[in-house]
Amino acid sequence: MEDPAEDPAAPIGVIGGSGFYQLLDDAREVKVDTPYGPPSDLLAVGTVAGRQVAFLPRHGRGHALPPHRINYRANLWALRTLGVRQVLAPCAVGSLRRDLPPGALVIPDQLVDRTSGRVQSYFDEGALHVQFADPYCGSGRRAAVAAARARGTEAHDGGTMVVVEGPRFSTRAESQWFAAAGWSIVNMTGHPEAVLARELALCYTPLALVTDVDAGIDAAESVAQEEVFAVFARNIERLREIVITAVELLPEHRDCRCARALDGFHLPFELP
Ligand code: ADE
Repeated sequence: MEDPAEDPAAPIGVIGGSGFYQLLDDAREVKVDTPYGPPSDLLAVGTVAGRQVAFLPRHGRGHALPPHRINYRANLWALRTLGVRQVLAPCAVGSLRRDLPPGALVIPDQLVDRTSGRVQSYFDEGALHVQFADPYCGSGRRAAVAAARARGTEAHDGGTMVVVEGPRFSTRAESQWFAAAGWSIVNMTGHPEAVLARELALCYTPLALVTDVDAGIDAAESVAQEEVFAVFARNIERLREIVITAVELLPEHRDCRCARALDGFHLPFELP
C-alpha cells in the first residue's frame, strides 16, 4: 500500500466480479503491494450499509485473468492488509443437481478440491497445518442465508462445491461423477481462495449463484461461456442486494473458529 496511514480499515472484504463495484458508496481505489506480487487489481474501499468494505475484482478489470492465473495469495493478503477479517465471495457456479436450476443461490458448507498445480499455501516452511474440516465460516453462512431471505431469495443452506482446474468446463463423465458423489455445485475459483483465507485467519463465505446446469446432468447442451456470463449478468443486481444485506448482518465481533485458526502457530512471517 502506498500510505497505510491514510487508508481507513475495512473489516469486511468482498471478492467478486466487476459488477460489484457499485456496492460501495464513496469508493476510492487503493493500490496494495504484497510479498506475493500484485493482486488482481486495485482495491476499492468504501461504505456499504454503514460499514467499511474493501472490494477486489477477482479476475481483474475487464475479466483479464482466467481462474488458473489469479494470484490468490496476493488477493487474500491484500485484503488482510486493509484490515479485512470477514470475506464475502460471490461467484458463478454450475449445478450438479436438478433441484438447483440457473438463478438458484447456494451457500455451501463443504468443498472438494479438483484443481491441480495452484499455489495453495502461505506456509512454505515449518510444520503448519490449519484445520479445514469445515472450510467456510458458519457465522458468515448464517448471515448470507438470512440476507437472501430478507431480499426474497430462498438460498440453499449448505452443499458441496467442487472446484475444478479449468479453464475448460467438465466432460459429461466428470460431471456425472461429481453428481454421483453427492456434490452440489461446480466452479473454478473457490479453491485455493477458501484455504488461503483460513491460513490468514479470515472468515470466508461463498455466495454461489447457479448460472448453468453442468454438462453431465442434462443430456442436452454442454455448458457455454456466453450462457454463464449472461445468467450471471441477469442476476447481478439481486446478488448485489443480497451481499449488501449480508454485510449488514455479519457480526461485528467474531466468535467463530476462523478467528482462532492460527492460535498456537509460530508463523515464519508477520501477518499484515
Ligand atoms: N462456473 C460457472 N459454471 C461452471 C461450470 N459449469 N463448471 C465450472 N465452473 C463454472
